[in-house]
Amino acid sequence: MFEGIQAAPQDPILGLTEAFRKDPAPWKINLSIGVYKDGDGNTPVLHSVKQAEERILRQESSKDYLSIHGSAAYGKAVQSFLFGPDHEILKSKRAETAHTPGGTGALRVAGDFLRKLFPHARIWLSDPTWPNHPGVFRAAGLEIHTYPYYDSEAKGLQFRQMIECLRTIPAGDAVLFHASCHNPTGIDPTLEQWAEIADVAAKQRFLPLFDYAYQGLGDGIEEDSAGLLHFCRPGRELLVASSFSKNFGLYNERVGALTLVATDEANVQSAFSHIKTCIRANYSNPPAHGGAIVTTVLNDPKLRAEWEVELRVMRDRINGMRRLFVETLKANGAKGDFSFLTRQRGMFSYSGLTKEQVLRLREKYGVYLVDSGRINVAGMTEANMDALCNAIATVLK
Ligand code: LMR
Repeated sequence: MFEGIQAAPQDPILGLTEAFRKDPAPWKINLSIGVYKDGDGNTPVLHSVKQAEERILRQESSKDYLSIHGSAAYGKAVQSFLFGPDHEILKSKRAETAHTPGGTGALRVAGDFLRKLFPHARIWLSDPTWPNHPGVFRAAGLEIHTYPYYDSEAKGLQFRQMIECLRTIPAGDAVLFHASCHNPTGIDPTLEQWAEIADVAAKQRFLPLFDYAYQGLGDGIEEDSAGLLHFCRPGRELLVASSFSKNFGLYNERVGALTLVATDEANVQSAFSHIKTCIRANYSNPPAHGGAIVTTVLNDPKLRAEWEVELRVMRDRINGMRRLFVETLKANGAKGDFSFLTRQRGMFSYSGLTKEQVLRLREKYGVYLVDSGRINVAGMTEANMDALCNAIATVLK
């Protein structure tokens, strides 16, 4: 059965990292996958995380299974992190959270749930979006559509076209939004624009599904949730797929969450029971370690304060690299005005480089970017900045 099978195309993001690892060039730079690097080019384990792990190791007394949706303490910590500890959603107990293997796991469970309960639901994605979104939802059997998002001329949001499209989406469909730090463009709606989008969602009665992978890496933990909170008014339903890969540096622990918000406590219990059925038929129940780390840190005032400082250091370094990138491009005589990059948020810069320029950067200079021209700013360092900007200036000539 395995003879003569045509190889699948390589993954547009993870496949590049495999190619990068094999590349013998000593000057190579990997700015493809969204992984944070410190000033020395390392992806560190946060100190707050190490301390939590030491505590868990000392206190852990069993490796018994978690329940299908993970630990209740983790679910509570996630909800309070997403919406704020005093939010009405928590008070009226109209949310339930499942601990999933990463944010991607949460998206897939959401896709399976939609397909199972609403077989005619279509899912709408921003154009462009994270290249894995279509794959995840297609695998779940959903029909995929897109709404306008990026204006390549203005290097900004195509807001009016986006709103016009959202106004045509009927009840029963789901629309995926990036809660903050849009991947790949780094361009988020303003708060006024979020309010308008939330109004359209309420009027059309489609289901908002938030992909929230970068909380705290845009403007701050609470600031980044401000758009999402417009969709959380009493009586509104939504799904949130969130992740602690980036803001806790827990990439390989696969610690994410799917939160379902319904109109009231009875409705959330019934709907969430189907989320559990989807999980049971997939990976049965989640791995414990990453969730235990996050719960320990978020619930311990001292560890939490230390983690918030570590998060701020990451955020400030990314924003510092963004500014330095724009300055160094200019200093290297790169053709064009790159000031738009400082208006983008989060780990990524949508550079406007063409696929052909991206390929030349990879082949000639060992600079790895995603084909769309997306650059991981969090992978830049002062040491690699000049070589990077010089290479970009050369391919732009
Ligand atoms: C990215 O977009 O680079 C990250 O979300 C990592 C991934 O899994 O693609």
